[in-house]
Amino acid sequence: MTDILCVVGARPNFMKIAPVMTALAGAGIHAKLVHTGQHYDAAMNDRFFTDLGIPYPDINLEVGSGSHAVQTAEIMRRFEPVLEQEQPAAILVVGDVNSTIACALVAAKRGVAVIHVEAGLRSYDRSMPEEINRVLTDQISDQLFITEKDAHKNLLREGIAAARVHFVGNVMIDTLHHNLPRAVPAAVTLGETLPQGYGVLTLHRPSNVDDVDILGNLLETVAMIAADLPIVFPLHPRTRASIDRLGLTAWLNQPGIRVLPPLGYLEMLGLMKDARIVLTDSGGIQEETTALGVPCLTLRHNTERPITVDEGTNTIVGTDRKQILVAAEAVLNGGGKAGRIPEYWDGRAAIRIAAILSQWLDARHYAVA
Ligand code: UD1
Repeated sequence: MTDILCVVGARPNFMKIAPVMTALAGAGIHAKLVHTGQHYDAAMNDRFFTDLGIPYPDINLEVGSGSHAVQTAEIMRRFEPVLEQEQPAAILVVGDVNSTIACALVAAKRGVAVIHVEAGLRSYDRSMPEEINRVLTDQISDQLFITEKDAHKNLLREGIAAARVHFVGNVMIDTLHHNLPRAVPAAVTLGETLPQGYGVLTLHRPSNVDDVDILGNLLETVAMIAADLPIVFPLHPRTRASIDRLGLTAWLNQPGIRVLPPLGYLEMLGLMKDARIVLTDSGGIQEETTALGVPCLTLRHNTERPITVDEGTNTIVGTDRKQILVAAEAVLNGGGKAGRIPEYWDGRAAIRIAAILSQWLDARHYAVA
């Protein structure tokens, strides 16, 4: 019998599920893993399973890419028979990608309990598809595990009962702690040692990469920074396609810009760990840089992870060229924000989750028996 059916779909899910699966097994909870197939390229998918030692998915729905409606609907259509067949006591979803809301919705409609790991984060920007996914998933979740205390306030404001919410810390940081000793040195990934150091850039948000003016401005601004400090740029497939489509490839050939394919987890960790600065529009990287104590400039106008700004090394700089350049200069000349490690980002979040779920499953079992 399956106690909990865990779901992953896209790259940022993989590092969250790895410690959860291990901790569930350690607590004697029988879990199975469903992969929706939202991400499918070897570089976006297979590498992470190998790097993180995640058990091979028991079921792969192989949905692939599509518009939000098509992708979400296709995941739902293919997930329903799996739920019917497995009859789990609950499903567990992580993060805020389309796979998260799609599977949560199927389960909730079939009366199967939903557990959401990394609940309650809010950017308050509903133009982000992830924000819609977060709000809706939390509304239909039975057990909500949060990474920072602000998330509790967000959930209470939306009418979610406090008894369902558990502050446990950050499972993504569990993975970081666990893998830091195995991180691939930057010199290996880059094939050389860069004497003056380097910065790292990641870009993949539709709001940054789908518009020619915004993306062109960001790439030009980064080229200006790269004139002084080499910038390593692992390219997300969406961004690669946009750059080609929008005729911006020349910006990738500027002096100091080092373009790489999407990296595996251990390579990316090794690269971030020793970077002098990270520029990103990713949510997870804002947290990872805070945990590593590396200065991060977030190329967005908001963040759903305010603790990385209040306590960590993150600064929100938006997409304005002057603001980015001033902030980058401050980091490179002054060393950037020192930051501190947020509460419970200690590598034990998944163990806390498993302990709570173990009790919860027992209580439900006795209630039914
Ligand atoms: C998704 C998540 C986003 C997360 C990001 C991390 C949603 C709404 N978005 O965005 O929150 O931060 O993953 O990567 O769920 N593609 C490939 N190979 C793949 C996967 C995608 O080439 O393995 C290309 C396809 O052209 C696809 C595009 O990337 O259309 C976008 O993929 P998709 O999964 O729709 O969204 P992401 O931008 O990756």
